[in-house]
Amino acid sequence: MHSSDGDGEKEESIDYRASFRLVSGLMRAHIGGFALAFIFLIFATAVNLVNPILAKHILDGAIPSQDYFRLAVYSAVYAGNIFLSLVLNYLLYIQLVKTGQKLIVFLKKKLLDHLFSLGMDFYSENPAGRLSSRVQSDTGTLYELFTETAITIFKDIFMFISVFAIMLFFNFHLTMILMPVFPVILLLVWFFVKLSSPLFVKSRKIMAELTGWLTEHLNGIEVLQAYNREETVCGHMHDLNERKFKAEYHAELYAVIFFLGIFALQPSATAAVFGFGGEQVLQGKLTVGVLIMFILYITQLFEPIFRFSEHVSIIQRSFSAAHRLDRLLALKPSINEKAQPSVISSVSKGIEFRNVWMRYKNDSPWVLKNVSFSIKKGESIAIAGETGGGKTTIANLLFRFYDFQKGRILIDGEDIQNISFKSLRSVMGLIQQDIYLFPGTMMDNLKMMDSSIPDEKVYEAIKLMGLDGFFRKHPLSMTIVEKGINLSIGEKQVIALARALVLDQDFLVLDEATSHMDPYTERLVTGAVQKLLEHKSLIIIAHRLSTIRNVDKILMISGGELRECGSHEELMSKNGLYAAYYRLQSGMSSLERNAA
Ligand SMILES: Nc1ncnc2c1ncn2[C@@H]1O[C@H](COP(=O)(O)OP(=O)(O)OP(=O)(O)O)[C@@H](O)[C@H]1O
Ligand SMILES: [Mg+2]
Repeated sequence: MHSSDGDGEKEESIDYRASFRLVSGLMRAHIGGFALAFIFLIFATAVNLVNPILAKHILDGAIPSQDYFRLAVYSAVYAGNIFLSLVLNYLLYIQLVKTGQKLIVFLKKKLLDHLFSLGMDFYSENPAGRLSSRVQSDTGTLYELFTETAITIFKDIFMFISVFAIMLFFNFHLTMILMPVFPVILLLVWFFVKLSSPLFVKSRKIMAELTGWLTEHLNGIEVLQAYNREETVCGHMHDLNERKFKAEYHAELYAVIFFLGIFALQPSATAAVFGFGGEQVLQGKLTVGVLIMFILYITQLFEPIFRFSEHVSIIQRSFSAAHRLDRLLALKPSINEKAQPSVISSVSKGIEFRNVWMRYKNDSPWVLKNVSFSIKKGESIAIAGETGGGKTTIANLLFRFYDFQKGRILIDGEDIQNISFKSLRSVMGLIQQDIYLFPGTMMDNLKMMDSSIPDEKVYEAIKLMGLDGFFRKHPLSMTIVEKGINLSIGEKQVIALARALVLDQDFLVLDEATSHMDPYTERLVTGAVQKLLEHKSLIIIAHRLSTIRNVDKILMISGGELRECGSHEELMSKNGLYAAYYRLQSGMSSLERNAA
């Protein structure tokens, strides 16, 4: 079974190796785009490096020799260089944005494909809010890394080495003056990374918690308002924001100190070069041009160092995002298809549960214990019994949302584990306790987003169910808001039933499908379902036993065990659990009737 995907409080350090594997793998997949960007980068940087040399030639060559022509040419080349650098930087930026976008689209698709392949056990442990923050914000951070940071780092390293090499080439002694600055910089960098990196990881984690918290609580806004818990939720949000602010504030404080340290070093280095170089100029060992060139190069040498503090935070953030994405992608689906699964196009004989044992986790109690039953094509069965008895679990196994530990489930004699998910789920329809409608029109929802289904099929299904009146009130063109909150639960169940008929599957599993309807709507739907019974097979999970009197077989489940099985009459004459439930319910209904 899966574990949580790592938003917990325990996780503190970044697995840099795993993060790097993900980042480099993504870059390799888009190597062409990055290579072109790299070429632009080399040229853009090289063009920048030429300007101080031009300054030297102007000061030492053109001006002393009063060569107006050379002065004009050098100045023009200087200006041209800056223009060329602009063009190259523009091309570089566009190329990076294009490659970055492609890479993120690729990564998001990979993530979504992966998320959809994971089983229900994963989703029962990882709330949707956090997952959507994962897909959106972590990939967003990586986008920043790929478009700006990675390339700037390359550029800065390239620039630093080139500037240093050029300085060494022109004057070894003057360059050596700068040497004491570097250990101080390294020390500053070391302190900064050490102190700020845990803070970045912390802020990132709080950020994910915040997004998840907000999504999950906005989803339950009605309950919050009904219980006046808005302030409690806001209080927790405020607390999280405060913690995030504190972590970020301290990280920024270190960044400022780091910045100021480097800031102090640059004028010191410049002063040393001015002092030592000026003396050499006075002694005639050095030209003014070379000295000015050095001063210009010192600015270029310090630029990458300044940017470093910015990089550190983005690298920390990106690697913590990559680390989390890598962990998510590394999760294996707990329910897998066979390498070459069988494809079924219909259920022509029936379904059989043979001594099935199931529990949701290895250390939790059995939810189904040695359950055996069968349903032939064209038959209808009902599953009834106490709350938490295991009824929905039977449906979960039929759709392979979960796997079971012992026994077999056979569909037309074929082991369910050999059948492809797609074909299994296309021959069976499910109407769950919790109906989910998707944003879109009523028509889209009835077709379950399959535009290949002709509209006529929808009209036929509505007619067959006698729901013309219902769909006049809720027209097919009506827009359904997220999760169908603009509809009542009973209305959603009617829509889900109609959807099952539109999709035209052999077997339908109705999990408490009629529990929220008024008696009139229920009769409407039951009547339509009855008509369909002649052609299809139905498994009805129901609490209200009066609704399942006409099925061929009723299974009574209690504590995960199949306690009784038979028709309504058989079970009534047996005078066992079913009969007791039935009498209790009809007694209660007559009490309700009397009270009314
Ligand atoms: N995803 C899950 N993870 C862990 N345990 C679960 C999960 N779903 C259900 N259970 C447990 O399995 C048992 C059977 O649940 P199931 O949903 O099958 O009951 P049910 O008979 O459908 O109940 P109800 O009539 O209330 O719908 C319950 O004890 C429940 O807590
Ligand atoms: Mg249930």
